[in-house]
Amino acid sequence: MVRISDDALALACGADAVAAAFAAQGCEVRRVSSRGMHRLEPLAEIDGQGFGPLAPGDVAAVLAGTSGRAIGRVEAHPFLARQQRLIFARAGITRPLSLADYAATGGWAGLEQARAIGPAATLDAVEASGLRGRGGAGFPAGTKWRTVAGAPGATKYVVCNADEGDSGTFADRMVMEGDPFLLLEGMAIAAHAVGAGRGYIYVRSEYPHAIRKLEAAIALAAPQLAPFTVEVRVGAGAYVCGEETSLLNSLEGKRGEVRAKPPLPALAGLFGRPTVVNNVLTLASVPWILANGAEAYQAIGFGRSRGTMPIQLAGNVKHGGLFEVGFGITLGELVNEIGGGTASGRPVKAVQVGGPLGAYHPPADFHLPFDYESFAAADGLIGHAGLVVFDDSADMRAQARFAMAFCAAESCGKCTPCRIGSTRGVELLDRLGASDRQPRGPDAVEALPQMRNAAKAPRGSAAEIALLEDLCETMKFGSLCALGGFTPYPVLSALRHWPEEFGA
Ligand code: NAI
Ligand code: SF4
Repeated sequence: MVRISDDALALACGADAVAAAFAAQGCEVRRVSSRGMHRLEPLAEIDGQGFGPLAPGDVAAVLAGTSGRAIGRVEAHPFLARQQRLIFARAGITRPLSLADYAATGGWAGLEQARAIGPAATLDAVEASGLRGRGGAGFPAGTKWRTVAGAPGATKYVVCNADEGDSGTFADRMVMEGDPFLLLEGMAIAAHAVGAGRGYIYVRSEYPHAIRKLEAAIALAAPQLAPFTVEVRVGAGAYVCGEETSLLNSLEGKRGEVRAKPPLPALAGLFGRPTVVNNVLTLASVPWILANGAEAYQAIGFGRSRGTMPIQLAGNVKHGGLFEVGFGITLGELVNEIGGGTASGRPVKAVQVGGPLGAYHPPADFHLPFDYESFAAADGLIGHAGLVVFDDSADMRAQARFAMAFCAAESCGKCTPCRIGSTRGVELLDRLGASDRQPRGPDAVEALPQMRNAAKAPRGSAAEIALLEDLCETMKFGSLCALGGFTPYPVLSALRHWPEEFGA
């Protein structure tokens, strides 16, 4: 039997044509989830031996035993052998929509255990495990669930945030496409613990394969999930709808605009009811915790970051893909040893960690252990654990400008520091990048008196740099949500580590 992934990335690399070529040779082909070794897709596995990346023309040589694409035993491949897969334990092994495969690999054991011990003990287990929200903020999941469980009201909801919008991230997509029953099981455990009857998965529209798989999985698993019911809702392409309150507004059919907190969604969320809002990876971590015990989960990790994190390696990196491991691995190990350095072969200049709002880290930060607190102490964040690698040809002022431009494009417009500050930030970074100072036209209206002063100052002068820092400070502390509040991270980190590129 030949096993080939039907994950969107494998499909984009031509997996269907390779599968058809094997079938044409009379092979039985089984479509499974992806191993997450992206550079090897389309990857074919025959009796545990891997071949990839394959094109249809390689199939004859694979079957004749003469292929130069052989990678040996897949499970022994260094990229996989160093991982500790709890969430992705079934990756590359099971058929995503096979209930039989799911049950045969420990599926539903967590939900059965939760039902056996009851809601209170389920809450205790999640709390004791130390599981923290994987969307980026790292808030303790058990505390959130306990707040919802204790909130008055008979109607409560579980909402899964699957609006995975960060650059370089794909772990949520891989769970939804590759192991959708795992996510549903996690949601059902959450619903059981807090007393919710209904759940929603809010998926970005850019994930059509995930949407189809989830809808099919919900129909197949309805008996296992009952009395809990789940529905998929598709976003409309706004990055800010990954923020939990604008996501809730969007789910309610309103404009995806951020709501002020309090009230917390845990107390007044979807349709004003107590709501658990958790990221895909948070919910997908829960079945393992219930099935194997909080202590076993708590035993993995680093500092206050317990358990594993599926880290996503992307950008200019040789071995891109999904690497799930306990917290604590260093940034340098991830980039140089696991990732193999840059794909271009040039020196690494910067790694952006945590999406478009994450800081740029130079190689001097490679000693940092991958955990929430270590990155926060280094003026960064791990976010959703996406790493985007850049080589020495990267233009860091242009990257800083991109952060401001992204914020300007994606701002929901509710608060001034983000809505106006990001546009002023683009203008300022353009000025810092101009090769010579030109008098600006009458339409270059400046809102701040400091800007007029800075405009007269020489490029990269202390006044201009101070203005950029001031603007970032205003956005960081004056914005209502993380979009405006975190945009300064990439800007200030680029300025701090590569000041010469800003003319400073
Ligand atoms: P937050 O710190 O305000 O809240 C985190 C979560 O805990 C929320 O769900 C909140 O409702 C809940 N919470 C807070 N206090 C609570 C309490 N006492 N009881 C119950 N629940 C409580 O962070 P926020 O604004 O939700 O997210 C910011 C983070 O999002 C940033 O740290 C950033 O890393 C991350 N982020 C992730 C992105 C992604 O695409 N995954 C994009 C942008 C930012
Ligand atoms: Fe909206 Fe930006 Fe304010 Fe967030 S920071 S509420 S995205 S305007």
